[in-house]
Amino acid sequence: MVYEIALIPGDGIGREVIPEGVRMLEALSREFCFDLSFTEFPYSCDYFLRHGEMMPEDGLERLRLFQAILLGAVGAPGVADHVSLWGLLLPIRRQFEQYVNLRPVRLLSGITSPLVGRTAADINFLVVRENTEGEYSDIGGRLFAGTERELVVQESVFTRKGVDRVIRFACEMASSRPARHLTSATKSNGIRFTMPYWDERFRAITADYPELRCDQFHIDILTAHFVQHPDWFDVVVGSNLFGDILSDLGPAIAGGIGVAPSTNLNVERQFPSMFEPVHGSAPDIAGQGVANPIATFWSVQMMLDFLGEQKAGAALMAAVERVTGGGYLTRDLGGRETTRSFTDRVIGALGE
Ligand code: NAD
Ligand code: IPM
Ligand code: MN
Repeated sequence: MVYEIALIPGDGIGREVIPEGVRMLEALSREFCFDLSFTEFPYSCDYFLRHGEMMPEDGLERLRLFQAILLGAVGAPGVADHVSLWGLLLPIRRQFEQYVNLRPVRLLSGITSPLVGRTAADINFLVVRENTEGEYSDIGGRLFAGTERELVVQESVFTRKGVDRVIRFACEMASSRPARHLTSATKSNGIRFTMPYWDERFRAITADYPELRCDQFHIDILTAHFVQHPDWFDVVVGSNLFGDILSDLGPAIAGGIGVAPSTNLNVERQFPSMFEPVHGSAPDIAGQGVANPIATFWSVQMMLDFLGEQKAGAALMAAVERVTGGGYLTRDLGGRETTRSFTDRVIGALGE
């Protein structure tokens, strides 16, 4: 069995971390005896500057043939972010119905939380983000452009199907974890229609899971609780925008965005799922070879799990933690390792 993987390194540090992810996968495939086939796609802001689009018209059709997509990051200073992201990353999530975005947060060995006194026992939760609708909609527009009456409207879309399926998925995740605790991110005091609806569906669906302890917090105080009481959380489900914010904040208390992984999951496996670090293209450090590849390796572990190669994935994360636990860290974590030297150490630690 050969796993067919599409690679989209994308922009900036995406092009530095994805090759290391591939090198890691090749090492693991030798050690754990599975076969991988990689096909690289150049879709990126560079591609946009050459062709006037982020990917060709049949780009999604081509990607559809793969079991999984490993993506680096999208976005570069010369191209407006809403153009690059709505031209590549967001269409992939939406067209392939990757409606669950799984973003685990855990304090890895050897990494110090900026929260004084917090240890690995306090920081271990999973953000489940709705990934195809909500606040990320292409419905809206501008009227009276350039005049004093200028008016901009951005709609949010919450469908019953979309809300129910991500909450149900979060319930299943919470049921499978020892703490059996599910938190919902809401804002039904200020947001007039969509958030009360989200709450209503949360109540209806969680009623099918009496074994779960369920609670909900408005997003504003929830961000404070993430900092002050990270130990309160197990599985946290939120809309597209709230999930986005929580999945940068969560990692910030566990070493930062350089270690944060994600799975964009098409639960039914009708379409490919996509695995990517949560971080962006980091133009401020791109080209220096210092990007932390842990977010990519952890995303690779999630991809291996998805493909059924759990042992290889577990070996990868154990090796990452042997290296971080030994005090070898990249610059973002206060260390001196480069992207490459850190990767070499993890590959070296695979067999230990
Ligand atoms: P960013 O994640 O690229 O960078 C934020 C900060 O974190 C920067 O200081 C950066 O140097 C640092 N950082 C990020 N990843 C790191 C890593 N692996 N190792 C060490 N340091 C790391 O976010 P941003 O600056 O808001 O966005 C930059 C560009 O990336 C924009 O075009 C944005 O739209 C895009 N973006 C893309 C994605 C994606 O493709 N999934 C995600 C977020 C942002
Ligand atoms: C992420 C990113 C994207 C998002 C942006 C780049 C559109 O921040 O993957 O978290 O908001 O989903
Ligand atoms: Mn984000």
